[in-house]
Amino acid sequence: MRADYKELDTTKTYLITGAAGFIDYFLAKRLLEQGCRVICIDNLNDYYDVSLKQARLEKLMQTKSSGIFTFLKGDISDKDMVNTAFSKYKPHIVVNLAAQAGVRYSIENPDAYIQSNIIGFYNILEACRHSYDQADNQHSNYQGVEHLVYASSSSVYGANKKVPFSEGDFVDNPVSLYAATKKSNELMAYTYSHLYNIPAIGLRFFTV
Ligand SMILES: NC(=O)c1ccc[n+]([C@@H]2O[C@H](COP(=O)([O-])OP(=O)(O)OC[C@H]3O[C@@H](n4cnc5c(N)ncnc54)[C@H](O)[C@@H]3O)[C@@H](O)[C@H]2O)c1
Repeated sequence: MRADYKELDTTKTYLITGAAGFIDYFLAKRLLEQGCRVICIDNLNDYYDVSLKQARLEKLMQTKSSGIFTFLKGDISDKDMVNTAFSKYKPHIVVNLAAQAGVRYSIENPDAYIQSNIIGFYNILEACRHSYDQADNQHSNYQGVEHLVYASSSSVYGANKKVPFSEGDFVDNPVSLYAATKKSNELMAYTYSHLYNIPAIGLRFFTV
């Protein structure tokens, strides 16, 4: 994996959703340290202690680097906000990590999963699709989004008995709404990738 860091293109603009979150913060920090331009969107929701998220953001703002950090407080289910961010900052690489996480929480709060994980991710896919409309050879050489990376989850393996799990395993039996939204994200990304040639990779994180 180290080799990937060496190959990181610091001329690109990276848009990360959920950057005040746990995994997200470390990614943003690493990109900034490498000298990248990083645009972060987070709604700073109170699923867990907001002061922890604010502390991460403060650290990102203080990260000594040649990179440029921009924070946008917003919700990815807000289509106008997402579109404005894409139009203004023209990201080359998009990393969607913002999501309503947690399996147990989804029993009591199903709305949050549909809002963030389904509508929010759909807005990101649409913005990636329409980034190609903004491709501008003459002025900025911007060709639209070059890569979309998004968080899926090991929860898509559901109650599968076969271990170790593998990407090729059957994952059509999610056992929580959270898992169903993550599996849906994989299907949505596949379709957008197929229809609009958006290079996309989903990462099935286990417990990080
Ligand atoms: N941490 C793990 O072990 C793990 C395991 C599997 C999958 N994942 C996935 O990886 C991603 C990152 O996980 P994490 O542990 O860093 O989570 P996290 O909860 O710490 O971070 C998510 C961030 O996204 C923000 N967010 C949530 N909904 C949003 C919305 N609608 N608009 C804007 N911002 C929003 C939250 O405020 C939070 O700061 C998530 O998609 C999660 O489902 C994580």
